[in-house]
Amino acid sequence: MKDLKVKTIKELNVNSLTRNPNHPRKEVGDLTKLTLSIRHEGILTPPVVAKVGENTYQPIDGDRRLEVAKALGYESLTCVVYEGLTEAEIAQKSYILNVERNQLNNIERALHIKKMKDEFGYSHDELEILGYGSKGQTSKLLSLLDLPEEIQGNLINGELTKAHCIELSKIKDTKQMLRTAKLAIENDWSSKKVGNTVERLKRNTNKAAKKEIPANVPAQGVPGVYFKDAKDMAELPKESVGLVLTSPPYFNGMEYELGFTYDEHLENVKGVLAESARVLVKGGILALNVADITNFKGKNGTDNRSRIQPMLHFYNLCLRKHGFHLQDEIIWVKDSNSFTQDDAVNYTDKTVHTQYRIVDRHEPIYIFKKKGDRPIPSDENIILQSRISKEEWKVYAPSAWQISPAPRNQGHPNAFPDELARRIIRMYSFVGDTVLDPFLGSGTTVKVARELDRDGVGYERDLRYKAAIMRKLGVAEVEERQEPVSDFAARQLEELEANQPGKPKVEIMASKGMMEAVSEMRKEKKMTAA
Ligand SMILES: C[S@@+](CC[C@H](N)C(=O)[O-])C[C@H]1O[C@@H](n2cnc3c(N)ncnc32)[C@H](O)[C@@H]1O
Repeated sequence: MKDLKVKTIKELNVNSLTRNPNHPRKEVGDLTKLTLSIRHEGILTPPVVAKVGENTYQPIDGDRRLEVAKALGYESLTCVVYEGLTEAEIAQKSYILNVERNQLNNIERALHIKKMKDEFGYSHDELEILGYGSKGQTSKLLSLLDLPEEIQGNLINGELTKAHCIELSKIKDTKQMLRTAKLAIENDWSSKKVGNTVERLKRNTNKAAKKEIPANVPAQGVPGVYFKDAKDMAELPKESVGLVLTSPPYFNGMEYELGFTYDEHLENVKGVLAESARVLVKGGILALNVADITNFKGKNGTDNRSRIQPMLHFYNLCLRKHGFHLQDEIIWVKDSNSFTQDDAVNYTDKTVHTQYRIVDRHEPIYIFKKKGDRPIPSDENIILQSRISKEEWKVYAPSAWQISPAPRNQGHPNAFPDELARRIIRMYSFVGDTVLDPFLGSGTTVKVARELDRDGVGYERDLRYKAAIMRKLGVAEVEERQEPVSDFAARQLEELEANQPGKPKVEIMASKGMMEAVSEMRKEKKMTAA
């Protein structure tokens, strides 16, 4: 250490001792034991201070002793006093003395080194000469400041060591870094194990970057999303998908169902499920979010009264043919606070007792399992990373899930919420698996799968949702104008009339909003023609 300019021992009034703004320690911590010791023994080692003004001194070492002395009512204290130090020298000596006595945590050390560089202009080489350690050591300490606050907190409270954190800082993706930190803490990983995990994650990322995109995808602009009918998923090899999560059309009058009869609807779903069964791994899960048809008016939509058409039997039969069995059923309860319409809105004086109608606030998610043994990844880290925690299990295992519906601005009338996809993907797939949604809609499954380090793949045949998918997946800002629903509806009806005259139009097609839109269009056309 460089020779100090003037060093004396003096009795100082406690009021002349001010705060040292450049002291590396940010918190004095718990002073209980020190207070007991000073009360009993007095102050055995004099604090070290620097003279900074006529009658003003800043602590270099011993700030905790000074705090206790003040609290115990000391009026004066014997101190070792240095004079003639610059502000940077005071900061540097505070650091060196506190490091020597192991008084600083790694974040305090890093913050101090940053200050020495940024505010006092020291280079790494100069810091090395001043006793801060090699350039490599100071750079590593500085890299700790780039870690998310949560991980810095884990380091300060001893859940992670500096060696753990240096390994973690090599992960580029913050979410992935936080997940790995959580795993390391929960499973008591050594820093070497964290290092191995980081290496594997890097290899996977490089592999993903190099992965060839199937030839027909770039032309369509959204990697991993095929804008075509999912009854043919020739792009996906047999048993290449780890999980299928999907929500097919329900046949409840949505814009993308317009023009299809009930039988055509069933054939469509059957065809897509058959292809999904082919590409799903043996023992894999096919999670199906689909409700019964609540306002069914018969196959042709011509019955006078609507009723509920239960659908589980159809799905069960259909999937049994492909070797699936229904393993579990989850009821997604939609949080009633998120509905604009009050549940009691239809209750009036005219409501007839015993004639009440139930307000629809739930949907099932069927968990079908394909026959066979599911392959388990050979990499133990993948297994550990994929595991859900006990806390998550407590939320995921009960059969009723309370989740708010997706916000309305999805660019698609029927998106399911991210949280629903997140739970299913976390429970039934491994990190790195391919997760498929053959009825992609707005792209929710692919988006959430990617957030969870899975490969998301989806199929959507209706090009009106391409822009919504691109937005959700952050592919590019698109300026595509979507065809207004009314234009689409009119076109579909006209095509039907032209191609299949006399074919009964299912009532379901005549959903109120759609028909209003269509008659508006027709009125407009007539007026223009006239
Ligand atoms: C209920 S929505 C899915 C919504 C989706 N879960 C989301 O979060 O946005 C069903 C979607 O499947 C699409 N679809 C229907 N039949 C299809 C088929 N054979 N191939 C591909 N997509 C299809 C429809 O156009 C519709 O967008």
